[in-house]
Amino acid sequence: MNYRDTFSYTTISESLVDEHFGRPLYYYNTIGSTNIEAKILATSGSPEGTLIVADEQTAGRGRFNRHWSTPKGSGLAVSFILKSRLSNPQISQMPMLGSLATAYAIEQLCNTSPQLKWPNDVWIEQKKIAGILVETSYTKNLPEWLILGIGVNVNSAPLKVTNPYYDTSCLADIIGHKVDRVNLLQRLVHNVGLLYNKLEKNSIRKEWQKRMLWKNQHIEVIDSDQNPIEGIALGIEPNGALLLQLLSGEHVNIYSGEIRLRSN
Ligand code: BTN
Repeated sequence: MNYRDTFSYTTISESLVDEHFGRPLYYYNTIGSTNIEAKILATSGSPEGTLIVADEQTAGRGRFNRHWSTPKGSGLAVSFILKSRLSNPQISQMPMLGSLATAYAIEQLCNTSPQLKWPNDVWIEQKKIAGILVETSYTKNLPEWLILGIGVNVNSAPLKVTNPYYDTSCLADIIGHKVDRVNLLQRLVHNVGLLYNKLEKNSIRKEWQKRMLWKNQHIEVIDSDQNPIEGIALGIEPNGALLLQLLSGEHVNIYSGEIRLRSN
């Protein structure tokens, strides 16, 4: 069967009629970054559940301000505005929530089981497929709103290398056929809604750890000063930190960085 791309405001809004999130829906053929647009909308009072979707991003951003590529007709670039469950333990689970919701959506449609790489990447067959960027605004130390940005490489892989440490791919190259982006987005919105309602139950971390890439393996964390720290990846803490067993046996929490597998 020939694949026909039907990604548009109309098809997306129709697919989301029964979903808790996705209203209002903003759809752009081309935009700089859905996260930047979401921040503008959140600042001007857009409600929880607002969803910003773009077919193409010209200035998509990832963690550490890296470029995130979303060429036209190729992927999902979406941002949710969230407001109601924003106390601190919940906020630190949002990257886990985003990556787990994405993994579930892929599994439901593509018959493949993604793994999750700390802190918030979705990987299949040792390649990165999707990434999450969470941005929060505080007023007088209280969280005001949060943007959950999700990028998925669906029908083509990024054109340029944005991170020299790992390979990237797309769903179509892995499963051997193109994927309907409207269906994938609907599953994603559904899963974000379900998991958002479960934030207080602490079940997200348990589910995330079941899929954790390189769990109990020898890894190296490159911290923000580019220093490598070696150890065994034991799991993830309730606050989202990586639990690492150093070569000395000591257990430490790592709050930020990039992990890679050690080959020895
Ligand atoms: C990462 O892996 O570093 C995170 C990538 C997050 C990309 C998404 S695409 C939708 C949203 N808009 C952006 O500019 N970034 C996020």
